[in-house]
Amino acid sequence: MAVVRIPEKNRTLAEKAAITDYLAGVGIEYEVWEAAQPVHPDAPAEEILDAYSGEIETLKARGGYVTADVINVTAQTPGLDAMLPKFSREHWHDEDEVRFIVQGSGLFHVHPAESPVVAIEVETGDLIRVPRGTLHWFDLCSSRHIRAIRLFQDTSGWTPHYTGSGVDEKFEPVCFGRAFQS
Ligand SMILES: [Fe+2]
Repeated sequence: MAVVRIPEKNRTLAEKAAITDYLAGVGIEYEVWEAAQPVHPDAPAEEILDAYSGEIETLKARGGYVTADVINVTAQTPGLDAMLPKFSREHWHDEDEVRFIVQGSGLFHVHPAESPVVAIEVETGDLIRVPRGTLHWFDLCSSRHIRAIRLFQDTSGWTPHYTGSGVDEKFEPVCFGRAFQS
């Protein structure tokens, strides 16, 4: 399950209800999914999509998503070091960014218009929906591994628009995990 930090308030949220409520308050949808049948996180993409087809179809109907795929990023992914800076600078998209974490972990920072930046550490089982237009950035955790289902309203919309604000530089791109809750 995710861990949410609000660095400016020195707050950490580690319980599902608290996380869901806080994130909903800043426009971010958070859910924890369980596979309909056991599926190995290394299974082929089709099996992963199959295991979560109920949740995927529900979400598609709700958010107007038309396609789903599975992305896999590891420390061995070619071009990784060139790719990561594209995610880790503050940006927004013309469509929602929807990720369900199958394996590994990652760190989203969300920058709401009216409230402090929120750091959301996601891991296996977490679904996060960042609505279009929401300022955010993303870093891998130290394992440099994440496998995630992505849902798209229109793949052409998934282009980052960078703000160039430099806000991202004020926040540590570090995953603390659940062991370091304060
Ligand atoms: Fe993004």
